[in-house]
Amino acid sequence: MSPDQLKVLAIPGSLRGDSFNARLLHRLVELAPPELVFIDHFLDGLGDLPHFSQELEGERTPASVEALRRRIAAADALLIATPEYNSAMPGVLKNGLDWASRPSGESVLAAKPAAVLGASPGRFGAVRAQADVRTVLTAIGAEVLDEELPVAAVHEKFGDDGTLQDEETDRALRSLLGSLLELAGGPPVSESDSADYSRECQRLAAAS
Ligand code: FNR
Repeated sequence: MSPDQLKVLAIPGSLRGDSFNARLLHRLVELAPPELVFIDHFLDGLGDLPHFSQELEGERTPASVEALRRRIAAADALLIATPEYNSAMPGVLKNGLDWASRPSGESVLAAKPAAVLGASPGRFGAVRAQADVRTVLTAIGAEVLDEELPVAAVHEKFGDDGTLQDEETDRALRSLLGSLLELAGGPPVSESDSADYSRECQRLAAAS
């Protein structure tokens, strides 16, 4: 792997075998420019994590959680494709993000460049779930791309063979990859309100 290449970890927020969100991540892998390399392509272990509990921290941290943190730490950037369940991200994804947010002050997500997209058969393309994920990532201190990519009526955009048949979505996916590359490869961002906010969140989490 060239030092000019960025290692990306793709995280589907759905456990469904035929997930539309996972299919979009597969398409992103196909479309990625040479500067972006997908490490092991997918994080598929969200369903193996125990429910987050502060009683399972420190020496009692489960091996599956350590593995999750190692995979995120090894990535230069994250791409998260989230379904929307009842206007929010799925619990399994929130659980993974909660685990990855700890230990407080040492999260592997801190300063990690991340882009979020989402798909739904409905009219809004999981836009509320994407906002939800961006809010949580920002609170943890990740460097979140301020762009959304809602793929509405997603079931109409794939052919019977499972391939994406929609030029506009393809263009949007390419554009998202370009933006992520810019975010992850560009100069460090300056201090911002969101960084202040995330520090405050970390402080409150440490105090609890
Ligand atoms: C949904 N779905 C859904 N869709 C949406 O646009 N807004 C929503 O609030 C919800 N809520 C919701 C709740 C629950 C419990 C389920 C199971 C589903 C539909 C959802 O978008 C659809 O099942 C997607 O196909 C899920 O994404 P994957 O698994 O295809 O990636």
